[in-house]
Amino acid sequence: MNEQLTIAMPKGRIFTEAVELLRSAGFDLPPEFDDSRKLIIDVEEENFRFILAKPMDVATYVEHGVADLGIAGKDVLLEEERDVYELLDLKISGCYLAVAGLLDTKMNDVAPKIATKYPNIAAAYFREQGEQVEIIKLNGSIELAPLIGLADRIVDIVSTGRTLKENGLVEYETITNVTSRLIVNPVSYRIKDEQISELVKKLNEVI
Ligand code: PRP
Repeated sequence: MNEQLTIAMPKGRIFTEAVELLRSAGFDLPPEFDDSRKLIIDVEEENFRFILAKPMDVATYVEHGVADLGIAGKDVLLEEERDVYELLDLKISGCYLAVAGLLDTKMNDVAPKIATKYPNIAAAYFREQGEQVEIIKLNGSIELAPLIGLADRIVDIVSTGRTLKENGLVEYETITNVTSRLIVNPVSYRIKDEQISELVKKLNEVI
């Protein structure tokens, strides 16, 4: 009998697309997936246990081995640099990371302020550009920062572009494209190699 696979899923906007992808790969996920507050969902027929985590935390569960696999945005993987392997680009939830701010504004000459949920990515980006900046870490609604004078620029995810537009902000530079990835704990990958390869094969057929 195969051992159970524990898969960490990101709650929020990636979740629906990830569930859709798993279903199209032939996995029979119960209706509980569509409307439930449960944080652990067992799917006995498939021998899967799903845990529902905040997107930023998925790679943490996988690194610690309490989840064998996870679905995580490339943004999170770049920001967190967790000790996990990236197995597949699932090509879902496409968006990108960009530098944005108020229209026609220059950054402050001395230590311009950058507000972001991604302090490591933002720091690395401006370091590469040779700009000394002060990073201000926020947890959401990043677009507020330039509007109320907290920061000169933001580094944030752009998906449809609506949030920027409706708040009168414009993009200055694109940093990198982002899609969701299937990640695996290195030890699980060795021990549960057969089941994981089977899952990867099925997913690969529908990506
Ligand atoms: C994300 C991101 C932007 C917005 C971009 O925020 O941080 O604010 O979505 O999407 P759009 O280009 O389609 O408008 P999220 O909704 O995850 O909430 P947050 O502000 O709490 O981070």
